[in-house]
Amino acid sequence: MNTLITDIGELTTNSDAGTLHDAAVLIENGRIAWVGAADDAPAVGGSDVFDAAGRALIPGFVDSHSHLVFAGDRAAEFEARMAGQKYAAGGIRSTVAATRTATDDELRARLRGFMDELRAQGTTTVEIKSGYGLTVADEERLVRLAAEVTPEVTFLGAHVVPVEYAERPDEYVDLVTGPMLDACAPHARWIDVFCETGAFTVEQSRRVLEAGIARGLSPRVHASQLGPGDGVQLAVELGAASIDHGTYLTDEDVAALAGSDTVLALLPGVEFSTRQPYPDARRLLDAGVTVALACDTNPGSSFTSSMPFCIAIAVRDMGMTPSEALWAATAGGARALRRDDIGVIAPGARADLVLLDAPTHVHLAYRPGVPLVHQVWKDGATHVSRA
Ligand code: NIG
Ligand code: FE
Repeated sequence: MNTLITDIGELTTNSDAGTLHDAAVLIENGRIAWVGAADDAPAVGGSDVFDAAGRALIPGFVDSHSHLVFAGDRAAEFEARMAGQKYAAGGIRSTVAATRTATDDELRARLRGFMDELRAQGTTTVEIKSGYGLTVADEERLVRLAAEVTPEVTFLGAHVVPVEYAERPDEYVDLVTGPMLDACAPHARWIDVFCETGAFTVEQSRRVLEAGIARGLSPRVHASQLGPGDGVQLAVELGAASIDHGTYLTDEDVAALAGSDTVLALLPGVEFSTRQPYPDARRLLDAGVTVALACDTNPGSSFTSSMPFCIAIAVRDMGMTPSEALWAATAGGARALRRDDIGVIAPGARADLVLLDAPTHVHLAYRPGVPLVHQVWKDGATHVSRA
């Protein structure tokens, strides 16, 4: 049950303790019990000692944005985009069609495969959205299946207007805020809306978010992905935990975010896979915005589940330092989910940890594309280990 991880070459705590060298961490009953210099570590039985052999230990990644319950594949759409075609929200509907025809067991098997994929890359907490069902019954099963694997479930019935409602979007919003919300709220913690041209207007988005809030869900918002809009201001006004994407932000958006508790979740996999310009994270950090990094794993705009890949892009192309990017991918994600028990290695926190096959976290960006995860602990239990 208890483990002392010792001989940690570099320990990123994301706490007041900062970064430690030659450190040790004691895990007791799934939680961090002690953090400090290896020489000062409390005595434990020999079989409970794990020798990190000088490797870097970091908090498990907290991926605050994903769409993991779906069927089908859009490789051809990606291929066309790489040949010059623009990304548009309408592609979502092809995944909706595939998802509606899949059985629960098919969706569950795929979802569990993704969970293993994420864990092997160091992600210990992931938020999962619905949004590829868009009927009451289909959205209900997507949030229900997501709730089997994570407590961070988001109802995103307002992802796009489905084809059968194409001519009457406000009636679809009635459905989302009425019977669909009734069916999905018991399985979800969060309410989300895609507030963007081609998806939902700011008025429709407000209706969706306010209905969710009235049902006890907390808001988060997809906005400013394809162009500037009013979604950021709406998110801040409603006290959303995060706005996600934020590729096109006005100075007013940045100022509003900086003066708020709303986290900006940047999703570099989207810019990579849609050939959009990367957002300038430096501008946001310098203005005082709290930034998270997330994968947005989905079959359309970003089919990566690799937080290290997103960190590498953020460092290479978005103006973040390696330390800032790591913080955004761990503690930043935790803030975006309003959690203080994850994203940090400090007494009392969950023992969600990643040991890297590297002497420093800088290697996450310095060695892009290389699988550096040596071992993962989730709630103190070993989930992935490499010989
Ligand atoms: O977060 N922006 C809206 N939704 C997803 C994309 C979904 C899709 O293309 O299938 C996103 O990028
Ligand atoms: Fe998304």
